[in-house]
Amino acid sequence: MSRPFTPPSADEVTNLLRAVIDPELGSDVVDLGMASVRSVSADGFVVIDVKLTIGGCPLRAQIKKDIESRVVTHPGVRDVRIEWGEMTSDERSATMAKARWNARENAPDTEVPATTRVIAISSGKGGVGKSSVTVNLAAAIAHEGFTVGVLDADIWGFSVPRMLGIDQRLEADPDPETGRPKIRPNTRAVGTGLLKVVSTGFLVDDEGTALMWRGLMLTKALEQFLRDVAWGELDYLLIDMPPGTGDVQMGLARMLPRTDMIIVTTPAISAQKVAIRAADMARRSYLRVAGVIENMSEFVCAHGESHPLFGSGGGQSLADEIGAPLLGRIPIEASVATGGDEGQPVALEGKGPAAEAFRAVANLIVTETVPPVRMADCSARQEVVTNVAVNRRA
Ligand SMILES: Nc1ncnc2c1ncn2[C@@H]1O[C@H](COP(=O)(O)OP(=O)(O)OP(=O)(O)O)[C@@H](O)[C@H]1O
Ligand SMILES: [Mg+2]
Repeated sequence: MSRPFTPPSADEVTNLLRAVIDPELGSDVVDLGMASVRSVSADGFVVIDVKLTIGGCPLRAQIKKDIESRVVTHPGVRDVRIEWGEMTSDERSATMAKARWNARENAPDTEVPATTRVIAISSGKGGVGKSSVTVNLAAAIAHEGFTVGVLDADIWGFSVPRMLGIDQRLEADPDPETGRPKIRPNTRAVGTGLLKVVSTGFLVDDEGTALMWRGLMLTKALEQFLRDVAWGELDYLLIDMPPGTGDVQMGLARMLPRTDMIIVTTPAISAQKVAIRAADMARRSYLRVAGVIENMSEFVCAHGESHPLFGSGGGQSLADEIGAPLLGRIPIEASVATGGDEGQPVALEGKGPAAEAFRAVANLIVTETVPPVRMADCSARQEVVTNVAVNRRA
């Protein structure tokens, strides 16, 4: 289990910190001059200096969590300590000036709001249930009152439209400012929330046509969906990744470095090698692995007896190996497959262990693993936040 131990360089830690975005100011904490690496010891202890714009800023807890979770993704990091400080008024002015400048100069690369939590559902190999997990978690999270985007990044193997029972073509409206067409996502109201769904399945008439897009479209399509879809308000964006990894993941890491990855695996211990590859790939592109979901765990028969058809223990052993939490275990149940075929995710109204397991994972995500960004009532920042928002539009 043990791997060769090499602590990261200060530059590597700095790169990890670049994935931590101040959600109000819309830039990363390194660029804003808020975070810097104080030291990295030979045995993997990292000390980070963080200066807050004001001492009591309520974003502190989130920044702390984001920094710690990013930095520990490096296998050579044993622990992270943050030394907190407060900016002087000159430093604060410099940070705010930088935030304004960034907002003006770097027109946002994507239409995904800075406050949206982005979760990519990935796996080492195909057929383990990524799409089923994506649609069920999206539906369960939306049911709680959130607005949840679903991006089907499986360009040629799309299954999200069928699983969510949506088949309208996508339409585009000209952007009121630039005149460029912006794609309007398809929507479906769920509980007190809303799903906003985009898939190449809404662009092509059949899977044969989709096949022609292969290769040519793969990374471009993801880019286009992030850039040219008018997502509007969005608490979460769940991305159903194509099987395997590679290009699409690198593209995602480049465009939305704040993406959290959830890895789906089956319970067979032998499946872990490929799943670990997905986690390694995430680390190489500096994405955080937020957790592991074991799918197709045991089969619970009508008598309540549990049968581990595909082995057992795989999810936990993967989680242990990559140092991420096991978020849940979804049993094998016919209702997951029929719900997918009928466009009614079992997590919505369904009863039984699989529906409950999906809802429990969704709840864990919104309360603990990837909580929504609540715009903090941080009055000292209001003026800049407003300015940044205005400049973004300018
Ligand atoms: N917990 C489960 N119980 C029963 N059937 C399931 C479960 N999870 C997924 N399935 C079924 O297994 C099949 C594969 O699932 P799914 O399409 O979600 O996997 P995937 O990882 O997205 O596959 P691909 O790599 O092809 O995109 C589907 O028919 C689905 O309905
Ligand atoms: Mg799939």
